[in-house]
This record gives sequence, C-alpha cells and structure tokens, in this order.
Amino acid sequence: MTRYDEVKADLQANPKTWLITGVAGFIGSNLLETLLKLDQTVVGLDNFATGYQHNLDEVQTLVSEQQWARFSFIEGDIRNLDDCREAVKGIDYVLHQAALGSVPRSIEDPIATNQANIDGFLNMLVAAKDEEVSSFTYAASSSTYGDQPDLPKVEDKIGNPLSPYAVTKYVNELYASVFARTYGFNTIGLRYFNVFGPRQDPNGAYAAVIPKWVAAMIRGEAVSIHGDGETSRDFCYIDNAIQINLLAATASGASKNQVYNVAYSARTTLTELFGLICHELGSVNKWYDEAPRYSKFRPGDVRHSQANIEKARVNLDYRPVHDVRSGLSKAMLWYASHC
Ligand SMILES: NC(=O)c1ccc[n+]([C@@H]2O[C@H](COP(=O)([O-])OP(=O)(O)OC[C@H]3O[C@@H](n4cnc5c(N)ncnc54)[C@H](O)[C@@H]3O)[C@@H](O)[C@H]2O)c1
Repeated sequence: MTRYDEVKADLQANPKTWLITGVAGFIGSNLLETLLKLDQTVVGLDNFATGYQHNLDEVQTLVSEQQWARFSFIEGDIRNLDDCREAVKGIDYVLHQAALGSVPRSIEDPIATNQANIDGFLNMLVAAKDEEVSSFTYAASSSTYGDQPDLPKVEDKIGNPLSPYAVTKYVNELYASVFARTYGFNTIGLRYFNVFGPRQDPNGAYAAVIPKWVAAMIRGEAVSIHGDGETSRDFCYIDNAIQINLLAATASGASKNQVYNVAYSARTTLTELFGLICHELGSVNKWYDEAPRYSKFRPGDVRHSQANIEKARVNLDYRPVHDVRSGLSKAMLWYASHC
C-alpha cells in the first residue's frame, strides 16, 4: 500500500473540509472530482476569469447526488480579501489553484497577472493564516526555473525569471517562506510542469499546447509548432498532480514549508509530442495526416524542461503513475467527445 492509498483511506474514514480556489478551472475541477469521490466536504471559490460553469456541471455528472451535496460554491475573487476570508471559514485544508496562467498572457497584461497571482495569493495566505487552517498547498510553477540551464531541474537551483508570470509564481514562494518565518504558517508549493488532462481549456489565445493541438487535429486544422520542434517539456498527467496535492495537504513536520517539483520526470520534444498525439488520435478513430508547421520561437518560453522528482518522492512518497503516453491515451476519450 502506498502512502497515497493510505491517505485516501484515511480521508474516507475521517472526512475533512477542503477549500479549492480556482475550482472551475482545469486542475481545480479535477481536484474537486477526486475529493467528492472520497466523500469530502468541499468549498470552491472562483470568479470564472478562465474557468467555466460547464466544468463544475461535468463534475456533478461524475459523482453521486450525496457527494455533490457536500460541495458549496462561492462566486468570488481572490483579489478581494473579504471573499478569501469567507471562503476559508471552517476549512481544514486549502488547495490554492486560482491564478491567471499563461506566459504570453502575462507578457501582454502583466498588471492583471500580478493582481490575481500576487495580490490574490497574499490575500489567500492572510485569510488562511488568520483562520488557522491545518494546511495550505498552492500551485507554484516550473517557470520559476527561468534561465537556469541544468537538467533535470532541482528545487533549490533556480535562475532568472523569463516572464511576468514566472515572477508572480516566484513571489508566491517568497511570500510563503516569509509567512513560515514570521508567523510560523507553513505551506507547501507545488511547481507544476505542464499538467494536462480532461477539462483543460482547448480554446482561446492562451490555451496550453496539448488541448490546443488535439482540438485542432480533431477539427482537421493545421498545427503550428513554435520554434524548431526540439523545445522539450516534462508533461504531467492530471492524476499525478492530484496525487501530490493530497499527499501535500496531509503532510506534516519537515515535509512542510517546502516547494516540490510536480512532473513525471521525462522529457518530450514538441515534435515527439505531435507524433504521440497523432498516434493516440487513432485510438478514438480520429486520423490526422498533415505535417506540423514550424513558426517563430515564442518570447518568454523556456527551451527545455525536465524535473527531478526525488524530493517529492522522498518527503511525500509521490509516485507518479502516468507518463505522457498513458496520460494522452486516458485523456483522448475526453477530447474526442468535447472538442
Ligand atoms: N496547467 C498547468 O500546466 C500549470 C503549470 C504551472 C502552474 N499552474 C498553476 O496551476 C493553477 C491552476 O491552473 P489551471 O491549469 O487549472 O488553470 P485554469 O485557468 O484552468 O484555472 C485557474 C482558475 O482560477 C480562476 N481564477 C483566476 N483568477 C481568479 C481570481 N482573481 N479569483 C478567483 N478565481 C480566479 C479561474 O477562473 C480558473 O477557474 C494556476 O495557479 C496555474 O498558474 C498550472
């Protein structure tokens, strides 16, 4: 039995009250689904900036009526301290996911990204500390590695941020460590590396590469690769990210007041990813035989990314189950029926 199995069994025996911020988004709605299926009580906070009611509606169809009745939703904004205070009332575990994602969005509108990701984060920290919640786990980002060239990335070796988004996620980590030092409020930051899976938004200018490509390929449209195709990422299936959120929320002692890489610890180039998606599309009877188009490199993009996940393995007993291929295979059914 892994620690994850033990945590899930323990939560079912002793249910807790959770707050998920950004609950209508991709990662938030997947956390919601998992927690409700474990019979937890969940409060969700979202302002629908990039999340959708249809994500919540979909979760409702995937859980029982009794489980859904344990969910309450607050339409509110983390930039508003009162909304944060209302949301944290009576909460045991906070999973803070709300933020404006996307490097290009932050380059176009650094102020909006700063307000949601730094002001909003600080509001959530203050509200959670004052409420004396048992744990506070937040979405950090692999973008914090910036121009640090070493591979794989190890938590304590970061470089200069390459985008306003990366600055905001690094500032989150700085605030989190200051809250530990000055108030004894210990948190855990999860540096996600390109998480993908069902309910990740395939539409819009700031869509992530996997849902964007899959949706385009299903519609028979051209796919554009930024750069020469050798840019690489450590794609992390959503189930791995959910696992570490539950492990982090229930962690204790020296495992807290830390940041952890969240990835599978493998590197896939964009050209390889394109090939994998083409192959997996066949499993849902969608065929794509056009070659990708190569375009200019995108400003702010990190060239290569791969995580060392030893720290999470040792401290939290994180054991990612899905690599990029098996994750794509699981997600493809969802894409086929939603894109
Ligand atoms: N998906 C990834 O690969 C990835 C990688 C690194 C970090 N992250 C981080 O993980 C978190 C979740 O990302 P996601 O991929 O699910 O994105 P998402 O856009 O699907 O979800 C973010 C959610 O936060 C909500 N939100 C935004 N601003 C808000 C505000 N001011 N008040 C309340 N709610 C607000 C949005 O409406 C949305 O529902 C984010 O913090 C993101 O920066 C994600």
